[in-house]
Amino acid sequence: MEKILFVTSEVHPLIKTGGLADVSGSLPRALEAIGQEVSIVLPAYPEALESAGDCHLRSTFHMHGTEVTLIEGRLPESSVAVWFLDCRGLFNRSGNPYVGEDGRPWPDNAERFALFGRAVVEVAMNRVGLSWQPTIVHCNDWPSGLVPALLSLESQRPATVFTIHNLAYQGVFPFSAFARLGLPSRLWALDALEFHDQVSFIKGGLVFADRINTVSPTYAREIQTVEFGCGLEGLLHHRRERLSGILNGIDENQWNPAEDHYLEKTYTHKTLDRKKANRTALQAQLNLAADPDVFIVSLIGRLVIQKGIDLVLDLLPELVRLPLQFVLLGSGESRFEQSLTYWARRYPERIAVTIGYDEALSHRIEAGSDMFLMPSRFEPCGLNQMYSQRYGTVPIVRKVGGLADTVVDAIPSSFAQGGATGIVFDEASTGALLEAVKRAWLLFADRPQWERIQRCGMQKDFSWKLSAEQYLRLYEQAQSDNRS
Ligand code: ADP
Ligand code: GLC
Repeated sequence: MEKILFVTSEVHPLIKTGGLADVSGSLPRALEAIGQEVSIVLPAYPEALESAGDCHLRSTFHMHGTEVTLIEGRLPESSVAVWFLDCRGLFNRSGNPYVGEDGRPWPDNAERFALFGRAVVEVAMNRVGLSWQPTIVHCNDWPSGLVPALLSLESQRPATVFTIHNLAYQGVFPFSAFARLGLPSRLWALDALEFHDQVSFIKGGLVFADRINTVSPTYAREIQTVEFGCGLEGLLHHRRERLSGILNGIDENQWNPAEDHYLEKTYTHKTLDRKKANRTALQAQLNLAADPDVFIVSLIGRLVIQKGIDLVLDLLPELVRLPLQFVLLGSGESRFEQSLTYWARRYPERIAVTIGYDEALSHRIEAGSDMFLMPSRFEPCGLNQMYSQRYGTVPIVRKVGGLADTVVDAIPSSFAQGGATGIVFDEASTGALLEAVKRAWLLFADRPQWERIQRCGMQKDFSWKLSAEQYLRLYEQAQSDNRS
């Protein structure tokens, strides 16, 4: 049995900005279900502590004269422990974990996540009085990047795994931060944290972890190229023997149209007819025209370039000519929020835009739409295309990263094999996206064919079990690399 310390900066349902939270909320449970012992370690954000319910002070320790408190809680509906670390109140502020109200990174992010990383190392080395020694320290994205780097300086350390959820976010800070943080000087080197005269937290994971993985096999290949490597392709290619891709699963309890309490009517692949009630309810909730014949295309996500929002905006003048309604839920860059809001005001019966974060609405959109757009420029894994398939909502995706690995294009050969689950297109252009939507629209007109696509997606296995077993093998490889 492995003892896994799972290091993350967000966990659903305690605190979430994106898919990392979903993964951090479900992979530890899936690992526990296959007999592993997992503890999550998370910064002590006040909202997260509140959602965790019963918490107690488990340990107080000192690092270079700074006091750190470790509060223990539990991941709701599981026996996975969550250890909240706080130090100098650096995480004691409400709102987004990474950015302030103005959308800009908190000015003290380097200090916050450096202290977090240092405190995690103390926990990982069993120096905080918990009498618990992990065999594996599993880090995720740049906020935990310093952990493998700092652990590499310890003797008798646990093995380390670093998962890249998104290479575009790297935690890069000026050199002055390196000096201020008092990081060991040997980490200032090109084969350590240095990145174009700055300090890169993600490099701590990419250079020093025993094993690196990302969240889909295709993205694992893509990030070794200039197009997707964000300047780190050389390093990743150099470490390719230690780099792999493991697809994310989805939480099949939370995302289950047969039991989803947010829905107007629950349904399965055998009772697809009941999906219609969710469509009508969505139209009513969002004040769209109560038209039973139009098809509803939706999008949920962060409004950033990664998600191809600019392509969608360029597409809107064409979309309004088709017999469809467009539903969007998201928040992000204000230029996107403003343009989308403008379109919704202009066509209130056809376009509904909700700016903000709304979990209930996200479920109702998945259930109430016919198609789901994900024209991402890059997509390490992506979760909504899997939720969509589970909800009989046909995804229209660009052939990148995890989207390419989880959606089977509805072309004659895949139809013949009974495996078509969506529409896949290649080019990151408005023209290609429009073609894909038109293709979907034609398929939609042929009801029996459309329902075959829906049913096929709904019956696919997106559970975490398979991926959790792959992680277990990765942990074994990391341990053997750590020994050699
Ligand atoms: P990313 O992590 O790049 O944002 P993913 O597809 O992996 O993309 O995960 C995004 C997660 O966040 C999904 O669970 C999605 O439903 C959720 N989500 C994104 N934006 C919103 C929103 N505005 N309201 C509710 N849920 C959202
Ligand atoms: C990132 C990626 C997304 C992935 C998620 C969880 O935020 O952008 O594609 O699904 O992490 O791994």
